[in-house]
Amino acid sequence: LNPIAFSRPYFGAEEERAALSTLRSGWIVGGARLAEFEEQFAARCGARHAVGTSSWTTGAFLVLKAWGIGPGDEVIVPSLTFIASVNIIAHAGATPVFAEIDPRTWNIDPADVVKKIGPRTRAIIAIDQLGLPCEIDSIHEVARRHGLLVLQDAACAIGSEYRGKPVGSLSQVSVFSLHARKVLTTAEGGMIVTNDEPLRNRMRLLRQQGMSLSDFARHAGPPTTFETYPEIGYNFRITDIQAAIGLSQMARLNEMLRLRRRVAERYIEGLARHPFIALPFVPGHVQPNWQSFQVRVRAGSALTRNAVMERLHGRGIPVRRGVMASHREAPYREPSVHLPNTVAAADNCLQLPMHPGLEDDQVGHILASLDDLARNH
Ligand SMILES: Cc1ncc(COP(=O)(O)O)c(C=O)c1O
Repeated sequence: LNPIAFSRPYFGAEEERAALSTLRSGWIVGGARLAEFEEQFAARCGARHAVGTSSWTTGAFLVLKAWGIGPGDEVIVPSLTFIASVNIIAHAGATPVFAEIDPRTWNIDPADVVKKIGPRTRAIIAIDQLGLPCEIDSIHEVARRHGLLVLQDAACAIGSEYRGKPVGSLSQVSVFSLHARKVLTTAEGGMIVTNDEPLRNRMRLLRQQGMSLSDFARHAGPPTTFETYPEIGYNFRITDIQAAIGLSQMARLNEMLRLRRRVAERYIEGLARHPFIALPFVPGHVQPNWQSFQVRVRAGSALTRNAVMERLHGRGIPVRRGVMASHREAPYREPSVHLPNTVAAADNCLQLPMHPGLEDDQVGHILASLDDLARNH
């Protein structure tokens, strides 16, 4: 049995060639490869525009800035998320207000969002946690009723579908992560996807110090093509080396999704009757991309979540705890916040290895080990 990786990028000769040829071309940032990657990414999402950034965090922060969200404003976000979803609200100077999750899907609970809306609420961050699309139609309905903006945190959700439509086509703006643990990766990176052309233009501007022209446009024009700086921006650029790798990853996205689905199907079949592992719940109208495979250790089981993690680790199986509860971390701790479903999910869930290169006998070993734990704990 080869050593099992918890997560691993799925790269081949194409990614190597793409990176090398970009290095050799001399255009390593702000060039044609980025433009092509953005175009393909938007098309795959069923949207008109995409703007590449250095990460999800920088991209999503730009969206909040462009919306003018700042001090005195509140943004509703589930606590059960990687803390980046919450940090961007704090970076914008606004206040995060934590929403509860649906305990079955681990996604934002629209009914609880309604309860968290107040006079200062400006926006909702709706997260497709672990690549499982959230109930975005209900979130939009709530947002419409209360005049709120919706940022879809699709960090993990490239290739996922909701009611037959790709994530990225469902909201005014969705932001994806291209970090190493994501289904499609450029090591680090983010992608803002939107049909809103003025927003796209603003994102391009803010990504690059507020500069009115891209480097590529400037160099393509006559020598007196001078840029202007109409507003204060940032340096949140993604490189063309990353974009070239991203283009190769786009070409194998369907294959990666298929291989992940195969692993998930084996886990689902193999664990269906497990005495203390509860499988992830997938509503009939969504198709996840299986960015992660998270399970729950049932209450009252013979082993605790941590004991399961330790036993699996002892058998050479790398595991991680489930998604964190952000409101329990020091910057966001508040005694008045009461989120029992969130706390239960954070305490009782763990993630099994999941990536396209996971081998059949490795999955077999993971399933046999879990089976064994059920019998000999
Ligand atoms: C739900 C969610 N939002 C945001 C992020 C942050 O993405 P990035 O690391 O690209 O900034 C992640 C990354 O794990 C995530 O899972």
